[in-house]
Amino acid sequence: KSTFISVISHELKTPVALIKGYADALSREDANWDRDTIQNGLAVIEEEADRLAELIENLLAASKLQAEGMRLNLDDVYLPRLAEQAIDRFQTQTDRHQLVAHFPPAFPVIQGDVVRLRQVLDNLLSNAIKYSPDGGEIVIRGSYDDQSVQITVSDPGIGLPPDQLERVFERFYRINNRQTQKAQGTGLGLFLAHAVVNAHGGQIRATNNQEGGATFSFTLPRRE
Ligand SMILES: Nc1ncnc2c1ncn2[C@@H]1O[C@H](COP(=O)(O)OP(=O)(O)O)[C@@H](O)[C@H]1O
Ligand SMILES: [Mg+2]
Repeated sequence: KSTFISVISHELKTPVALIKGYADALSREDANWDRDTIQNGLAVIEEEADRLAELIENLLAASKLQAEGMRLNLDDVYLPRLAEQAIDRFQTQTDRHQLVAHFPPAFPVIQGDVVRLRQVLDNLLSNAIKYSPDGGEIVIRGSYDDQSVQITVSDPGIGLPPDQLERVFERFYRINNRQTQKAQGTGLGLFLAHAVVNAHGGQIRATNNQEGGATFSFTLPRRE
């Protein structure tokens, strides 16, 4: 679809242009940038490179999904560790948000595809940060019963229009309002997260928090 091509090329070109622009400016030999300017430029370069990496990751996953369906490489997965690793990766991207994980003791090891589940957590954390423009605490919480484990990712952000809580999992679906317009994206992250969770035999859904912000929860069957 032509909208697909134009969305994707816009999303690819914007970070590349910013990275090139800042790298050009910072490396100019006649310029005498002060430390703050240099730090600020490097921070933009790093952020835009992260954005590009996420986009490429999601594009590859989506086209792979379309070509061959979702094939899982099942292995032992210990979600508390996966969550800690995801937090470590994303905490370096922001100092306005505090990322924390809470898991109960004796959390079960499940059978899952580590690479895909990492991608689910990455997309949920990336959204939680992106759609919480004022910063604040982002919590990954785990729970379990005999049949399944449940993971929730809660943020203090802008939340979701109640009539679109299900549509956000559709491919390329993005909410279009004044608050979301500032954030860039392609609408692939939740589509992929949904596909991965379903392929595991689990469910994913979005809710709004009473105190504001959104919570995304997914379950995975235990099948230890
Ligand atoms: N944590 C969140 N809080 C508020 N809105 C969200 C959140 N996560 C996702 N959304 C909404 O759902 C849409 C789809 O998310 P996603 O598929 O990850 O696409 P993208 O982040 O590329 O826009 C987003 O455009 C945004 O409008
Ligand atoms: Mg996203």
